[in-house]
Amino acid sequence: MNTQPVADRFVFKTADALRRKAEAVGVALPFDEDVRILLEETAVGDRRVPNRIAAQPMEGCDSTPDGAPTDLTIRRYERFGAGGAGLIWFEATSVAADGRANARQLFITPVTGPGFRSLVEVTREAARQRFGRKHTPFCVLQLTHSGRFSSTAPAGQRRVACHNPHFGREALPEWTDDQLDGIVGAFVAAARVAARAGFDAVDIKACHGYLVHELLGAHTRANSRYGGPFEHRTRLLLDIVSAVRAEVPEIAVAVRLNATDGVPFPYGFGMSADGSASIDLEQPARLVRLLRDAGCVLLNVTAGNPINRPHINRPYDRPVAGSAPSPEHPLIGVVRLLGLAASMQAEVPSVPVVATGLSWLRQFWPPVAAGLLKAGGAQLAGLGRGMFAYPDAPADLAARGSLDPVKCCIACSRCTELMRMGSTAGCAVRDHPLYSSLHRSAEEAAESPS
Ligand SMILES: Cc1cc2nc3c(=O)[nH]c(=O)nc-3n(C[C@H](O)[C@H](O)[C@H](O)COP(=O)(O)O)c2cc1C
Repeated sequence: MNTQPVADRFVFKTADALRRKAEAVGVALPFDEDVRILLEETAVGDRRVPNRIAAQPMEGCDSTPDGAPTDLTIRRYERFGAGGAGLIWFEATSVAADGRANARQLFITPVTGPGFRSLVEVTREAARQRFGRKHTPFCVLQLTHSGRFSSTAPAGQRRVACHNPHFGREALPEWTDDQLDGIVGAFVAAARVAARAGFDAVDIKACHGYLVHELLGAHTRANSRYGGPFEHRTRLLLDIVSAVRAEVPEIAVAVRLNATDGVPFPYGFGMSADGSASIDLEQPARLVRLLRDAGCVLLNVTAGNPINRPHINRPYDRPVAGSAPSPEHPLIGVVRLLGLAASMQAEVPSVPVVATGLSWLRQFWPPVAAGLLKAGGAQLAGLGRGMFAYPDAPADLAARGSLDPVKCCIACSRCTELMRMGSTAGCAVRDHPLYSSLHRSAEEAAESPS
């Protein structure tokens, strides 16, 4: 049982109480009681999006061994479709057999492609059944190579972009430039299958420490076309975006980007070069302009990484079992994430930005998101853990203008624990008995002597 201390329990019964706390911790929480903007139709590229609420990519770790979706994967997306989210950002899906974060991570190939096609069809059909033929969620598939976190790489073949003590202390070999050149083709091939499967867009994942993101902070990678100066560190991401645009023009390109890593220079992206841990958005701002110019039509702004900067990545009350309590009030993390989205949206007003980090706010996320969107700080509001817990939140918001507090995510980290314990991820609190019993079994397995 996780008996970790809770940093600052969520005790707010009213939005006013929450806003007073924000003031007390010194952050400016956007807020607008009129939440109708979230339910407005919008567009990505030339496609309609039925509302401005997005389900964020959330790995369920429940694929078949070859990477195809299973019944559990389909159940998750069917719930998102039936819940009314206007945009559904499908979870991290590997482009390479040896680049999966775990052997249960989705992997898209011509062989698994038909499974993805059914997944998209079931998701869209669930949405249409409940909201009518006109409600077709925009579907994005997140493509990734897990880089240093690839647990499916054969023994001795896991590689890193460069040594980074904040991402791990193991002495692993570096990718050669030639090997990195070859990664572009893997993303293009995956995008081609994704287009056939019916996705509207693919996301070239550039966040949370995985390969494409790792390179963005590869300041210390020497004598390489992929390390050192900004133009080198951003090369792989921009090359992949351009190659997918050129070779698979029928699918739109999105990027989920870390605007800052929270680890000091020379190991992080979006960090001040004076070595302090302060944020510097000059390079992320340059990068999003280049991404727009390369044809990226949708951005999703995030930060930190789930292993050693979880408070930056996903503000929580209760940490993952065995890890540290949040070093800051979660509201600081929420407002930081929303501010990063706003900074990137200001750079590229023509490219819709999905904001991240709203789930900790429970039933108060809609007025906060409405305040952010009305101020132009993003064009869509993304919910990660909140969607695992409460996939019907968009439908409830449309029907009654507010959310049911007893269905909301409580930022307890159990979904992350499920992943870490080698199980399949979901909400162990709100989606019971399925995930509560999986969580219990995973805890028992972890505690039993082997
Ligand atoms: C169990 C779990 C799985 C996740 N899987 C992914 C993923 O596949 N891709 C990704 O970019 N982020 C992933 N994330 C991060 C979320 O998309 C999101 O950025 C984070 O939870 C913060 O948003 P929230 O406050 O709305 O939960 C995951 C988070 C959790 C807790």
